[in-house]
Amino acid sequence: MHTELVRPLPPTIAVDQPITALAPMQDVTNLPFMSVISHFGSPDYFFTEYFRVHVQSRLERPILESITENKTGRPVFAQMIGENIHHLKRTTLQLLEYPVAGIDLNMGCPAPTVYKKRCGGGLLREPEKIDRILGELRNIIPGVLSVKMRIGFEDQENFETILQLINKWEIDLLSIHGRTVKEMYRSTVHYDAIKLAVETVNCPVLANGDVTSARRAREILDFTGAAGVMIGRHAIRNPWIFQQIREYESKGSSEPVPLYRVYDYVRALFDHLKKPWIQEKAQVNKMKKFLNFIGQGVDPEGQFIYNARRAQSEDELFSICRQFMLDQESGYFADEPYSEVVARPNCE
Ligand SMILES: Cc1cc2nc3c(=O)[nH]c(=O)nc-3n(C[C@H](O)[C@H](O)[C@H](O)COP(=O)(O)O)c2cc1C
Repeated sequence: MHTELVRPLPPTIAVDQPITALAPMQDVTNLPFMSVISHFGSPDYFFTEYFRVHVQSRLERPILESITENKTGRPVFAQMIGENIHHLKRTTLQLLEYPVAGIDLNMGCPAPTVYKKRCGGGLLREPEKIDRILGELRNIIPGVLSVKMRIGFEDQENFETILQLINKWEIDLLSIHGRTVKEMYRSTVHYDAIKLAVETVNCPVLANGDVTSARRAREILDFTGAAGVMIGRHAIRNPWIFQQIREYESKGSSEPVPLYRVYDYVRALFDHLKKPWIQEKAQVNKMKKFLNFIGQGVDPEGQFIYNARRAQSEDELFSICRQFMLDQESGYFADEPYSEVVARPNCE
């Protein structure tokens, strides 16, 4: 269990409740998506998608905007991915000029193009390198330094060694996706490994991986002893999940969401993601990666996703949404996904 924190984390929304965080997701957790999520119920913390760090890298403007233009009222951690110590330090110093809640290091991305460059999940094969990187970053970061990692590359051989490095360099917050790099996104999550991390490190741990609902979050928290949960894909499906967790934690249950409110969510997403220079058809196509998730809570047969994937125009898309969400009598959005959410980042 964690001891007194040297550098306090930003305050959470509900005192004495587990921390909630929206997981960083490339091409998803940008400024418009964060704004939409905050409209339906903010997490305690946001994380940017990763800033790529290499010899020629510059802070990417659209990612930076999720920090500088953030109007959600909730703190944002800036995530970096890279392996070159000099450039990680350079990027850190640049990021520290902005109102970031902390600097987060990605040690989990499973994309071969990333891990072959010894970045992201690739770092998990090199504890000595992690030791050097964390040491150098700790030296220049007066505030919060966090790490998001998987439990290993091929297996958990280095896991305990890396957890000791988390303690050695006084990492302030550790998010653990309970899979190895090789397990990608669909295997069973090893919550026992997250439990081991909670028992080993001195900082709060966020449990990540298949936190599907408020009830499931409570089960995972009970099992692992984690300080909170980090949620990715299931927050795309269900943007109410953070609010539902707060409700569940205080009352032991949370209100079901009527399907007509899902219509509002799709509308908000469409309007926020809209860019004047993007053609309507491309705009509709852009929605489909979100609809693949959202549809998991709309109808058990998957007919909504099937129809929505074929929409070519805004009118067509919203007429399908109306049919499934507004014309239904007293339908509710499913708390748990009807079937497995299958989606992977573009970087794979
Ligand atoms: C579309 C997508 C993009 C992702 N991009 C990132 C990223 O930029 N940085 C990162 O640390 N993890 C990234 N991840 C991993 C998630 O943060 C999270 O660890 C993983 O999806 C498991 O959590 P979940 O079951 O709640 O989705 C991404 C995942 C998805 C699905």
